[in-house]
Amino acid sequence: MRAHEAGALHADLGRRAPAWLRPPVDVNALVPELWPATVQRDPAGELTVGGVPVGALAAEHGTPAYLLDEADLRARCRAFVAAFSGSDVFYAGKAFLCKAVVRIIAEEGLGLDVCTGGELATALAAGMDPARIGFHGNNKSTGELARALDAGVGRIILDSRQEIDRLTALARERGLRPNVMIRVTVGVEAHTHEYIATAHEDQKFGFSLASGDAFGAASRVLTDGVLELIGLHSHIGSQIFDSSGFEVSARRVLDLQSRIRDAYGVELPELDLGGGFGIAYTTQDDPAGPGELAKRLAKIVEDECETRSLAVPRLSVEPGRAIIGPAVLTLYEVGTVKDVDGIRTYVSVDGGMSDNIRTALYDASYSATLASRTSTAGPMLARVVGKHCEAGDVVVQDEFLPADAQPGDLVAVPGTGAYCRSMASNYNHLPRPPVVAVADGRSRVIVRRETEDDLMALDVG
Ligand SMILES: Cc1ncc(COP(=O)(O)O)c(C=O)c1O
Repeated sequence: MRAHEAGALHADLGRRAPAWLRPPVDVNALVPELWPATVQRDPAGELTVGGVPVGALAAEHGTPAYLLDEADLRARCRAFVAAFSGSDVFYAGKAFLCKAVVRIIAEEGLGLDVCTGGELATALAAGMDPARIGFHGNNKSTGELARALDAGVGRIILDSRQEIDRLTALARERGLRPNVMIRVTVGVEAHTHEYIATAHEDQKFGFSLASGDAFGAASRVLTDGVLELIGLHSHIGSQIFDSSGFEVSARRVLDLQSRIRDAYGVELPELDLGGGFGIAYTTQDDPAGPGELAKRLAKIVEDECETRSLAVPRLSVEPGRAIIGPAVLTLYEVGTVKDVDGIRTYVSVDGGMSDNIRTALYDASYSATLASRTSTAGPMLARVVGKHCEAGDVVVQDEFLPADAQPGDLVAVPGTGAYCRSMASNYNHLPRPPVVAVADGRSRVIVRRETEDDLMALDVG
């Protein structure tokens, strides 16, 4: 028996939902903050993206599919560039990278962070100016570093003593003097999931400030004189809403900067405070916009520099999620609807943890809506699950969907641009979904759907 057939009252539904999630007054309504800018319902009630109804997109491209609202992405890029004018914005490609997105962010004036040879290859294949690329990673191989040097990558962010050895040797061999930054572990406990917090002491990234390793790394680079130390770098984590972590991080990094000046008479010209700016996945999230972020970060840096009589370095930031995350939704088709009596209704879709691992990995929260139509049925507390052989294969933990949701309906999940396709897998041999860019009433495939032939192509028997 379905929950609505049992005559469940809103109050009962509310009791089984998490405290923050209330049954909506109108189950068809879209909360604009959660959706890409051009998403709306057409007069018939169907969701449209970039002016194209989702039914038409599903018919042309199949489901599941990641739908990228190109106008939304470009607007986010522009907003960051405008807000951080006088600073540099590097898009963190790990959030999602393909050639079309590289071209879009480059056209909109952003630089690009990569952290593997594969990401670097994608950036270069798309024609990204290497001077506008930053190269990250805690275990860059000698081959990757050589490739970055040969390509003329603009900055390499040093993460270990061994990397300094490798890069110094490679630069000497080539007679090059590459720009480098030192990634500093500032000892900040960012308020986010443990797996995406990156500045507390006990983890793999960067040089520890507390142990003296960060100062030691700077001393080594300055003394050797082979690499050009342009600045310090700190990235405290991801999906962060509170600026206090950035404040502590800037204070500690600038403290190191003043110690370097005192010891070596060098004022490093740049400072990179990383990415990590949070986005809205549910109505519980209230992220600051780029304007507010830029103002806060600039003030923190100016104040801290004034205290230490330091020249204000040129600032850079590395947003990934905040650029691409909200610009994408995933479109699924419902396959089964199963009421687990008195508990909740499981709505199974044709993808799952292979296209969005974040719910299982980080206990991330998402929202969803019935996309192919509106409904006059009341709200039903649903869990949107995938088709994998795994009980933890959940896409959306809790959402109110119309009580008459049924097989064949399309369901849309917003906020899936970051760390979904980029972390997608072939678990259970599911071919990975395509990424389809939609703008001005037209769609184009920018990453095609995998096929079973693609799966077989790697299986050499
Ligand atoms: C060094 C660095 N910069 C930037 C980012 C991007 O973070 P976000 O996508 O949360 O903005 C990451 C993410 O892990 C990172 O490690």
